[in-house]
Amino acid sequence: MALSIIPLTPVLGAEISGVDIGALSDAEFAAIETAFEDCSVLVIRGQHGIDDAKQAAFSRRFGDLETTISANPGGEGTTIAVFSNLDSDGALIPPKDKRMVFNSGNQMWHTDSSYKPVPAKASMLSGRVVPPEGGETEFASGRAAWDALTAADRSEYEPLIAVHDFLYSRGLIDKTLLTEKDRRELPAVRQKLVRTNPVNGRKAIYAGAHASHIEGRPVAEGRALLRRLTDLVTQPEHCYTHKWEDGDLVMWDNRAVLHRGRPWDDGRYPRVMHRTTVAGAGPSVEDGRPLAA
Ligand code: OGA
Ligand code: MN
Repeated sequence: MALSIIPLTPVLGAEISGVDIGALSDAEFAAIETAFEDCSVLVIRGQHGIDDAKQAAFSRRFGDLETTISANPGGEGTTIAVFSNLDSDGALIPPKDKRMVFNSGNQMWHTDSSYKPVPAKASMLSGRVVPPEGGETEFASGRAAWDALTAADRSEYEPLIAVHDFLYSRGLIDKTLLTEKDRRELPAVRQKLVRTNPVNGRKAIYAGAHASHIEGRPVAEGRALLRRLTDLVTQPEHCYTHKWEDGDLVMWDNRAVLHRGRPWDDGRYPRVMHRTTVAGAGPSVEDGRPLAA
């Protein structure tokens, strides 16, 4: 079967079929890479035999992989982040368990690793066990939001820097989830509020749940702006909702889209997702200076 690339919505996403990500020709990879830069979200169907090694090898074609704090005993070690409601013995983890509460942070609109000095370029999420209903992943286009702004708003927002802070975003769920040690290891960082794709020049609003406030503005005022921008990015015509099927591998451009997981009946259905994360080329701000804690 030949590679096929079909747009998912007028503003973001493409569905890719007819390929095995473990056996791509150079031409197929080039077509996928171009679609990634152009469409921001790629739904690659039919990857039934995928394992961590294969997922990591495909992901590395886009750049170096980030390592994750949630160590995983599998062969790929810390390059695979596992989001699962199954225990190591295969039993369902109770929804109120701290691990589940921690991972529920992914149900807020966010962009991966924006709290790191070098934020992520891409994430690849493989649905290893998908629930029959619920548990969708939604994506929202920061580019469509940028395109919808007036010229005056664009020139106001483009120079702004947002402060991103993992303790702030997880604190929205439960202030006790993270510790003083986490605070020292995860100092807040500065990120551009508007990012430009280096390949095609498209601009995108870049914020999400980890964005705490705007540098140089009163916190409440900055937060109000971030809320307005998140509302703009996530209005329905800028979104794509992915309903997971067996064999799906979904990848997205963290520089250009927000995403969130949707709830499902997690006391009843297992949901096991494995993620690889491709590191960005560098800090989003020229001086790359992390903030003091
Ligand atoms: C992620 C994420 C949401 C989901 O993998 O980065 O936010 O639907 N996932 O599991
Ligand atoms: Mn995420």
